[in-house]
Amino acid sequence: MRVGVLTGGGDCPGLNAVIRAIVRKGVPGYGYEFVGFRDGWRGVLEGDTKPLDVSAVRGLLPRGGTILGSSRTNPFALDDGLARIRGTLADLGVDALIAIGGEDTLGVAATLHENGVQVVGVPKTIDNDLSGTDYTFGFDTAVNIATEAIDRLHTTAESHHRALIVEVMGRHAGWIALHAGMAGGANAILIPEVRFDIDQVCEWVESRFRLDYAPIIVVSEGAMPEEGDEVLMSGETDAFGHARLGGIGDWLGKEIERRTGKEARTTVLGHVQRGGTPTARDRWLATRFGLHAIDAVAAGNWGVMTALRGTDIVTVPLAEATKELKLVDPALYAEAAIFFG
Ligand code: F6P
Repeated sequence: MRVGVLTGGGDCPGLNAVIRAIVRKGVPGYGYEFVGFRDGWRGVLEGDTKPLDVSAVRGLLPRGGTILGSSRTNPFALDDGLARIRGTLADLGVDALIAIGGEDTLGVAATLHENGVQVVGVPKTIDNDLSGTDYTFGFDTAVNIATEAIDRLHTTAESHHRALIVEVMGRHAGWIALHAGMAGGANAILIPEVRFDIDQVCEWVESRFRLDYAPIIVVSEGAMPEEGDEVLMSGETDAFGHARLGGIGDWLGKEIERRTGKEARTTVLGHVQRGGTPTARDRWLATRFGLHAIDAVAAGNWGVMTALRGTDIVTVPLAEATKELKLVDPALYAEAAIFFG
């Protein structure tokens, strides 16, 4: 069997660990050959490949990014996308695909499956917003990076008696903000799922100053005030229709200064959260996802995604996993609120 592997969407730490595990089990364990497709679905549309054998995956476990490259190409945005994918697979003799990606990449995989393409998915995203799995790999690394940043910002905030705002990724889901904010002892955590009241945020800021502490506010890029919308970086959208978010941290900093008279500074963590080496936990999860993905291929278990449930790796239908995003439950958010202010 020839198996194609691709990584799509925003990169995240652990992608290379998945690729390594797939190949390290698939070659000796099942006698499979692999073809790496470059830059996600673009490589499949254009037949742009990279050799993928055991020697190509040596040393990959701790390496961030993806050796295959990534893109946000959406084949279904093209009239002939499906036909071109079928053509590439036939020309290269590729029998099955393993797609490693988030909601968009796996959404494409789900539609391909409905159209008879043999495909298995692996869930990745630092945002942890894919349904069907307790966690995606990459999330733990992002949370650790954000937590370290918050720890560092505490000391400088206190030296200067300033409010510090930390903007983290999370377009629709506030998982990174919630976990890193709780771990870092944030004064307020603002997430896309729950609109915030700017007067309340300023009150929390002032009460923290009264206690002689400097406030740290962790905000997801997609968080919104009660009155107002997402703050956009630009008017551009990608091939899946997502706008580029960014700027809520700056907006908050200005509002806090204007309303409280205290100095505020904003740090936008941005792609630092996605870069570099994965944590041990993400290496473990990514490796197990890779091993189970190639088992699913061997079992002919098509149209599924590997998923973590407790400590078990299971498979769930791609259609189910991509139907809706996994958002932060307001009850879980309420737990964190005890520390606000
Ligand atoms: O992959 C998800 C994500 O991390 C979002 O939280 C963020 O909005 C987006 O990627 C930004 O990605 P890029 O800058 O690569 O378009």
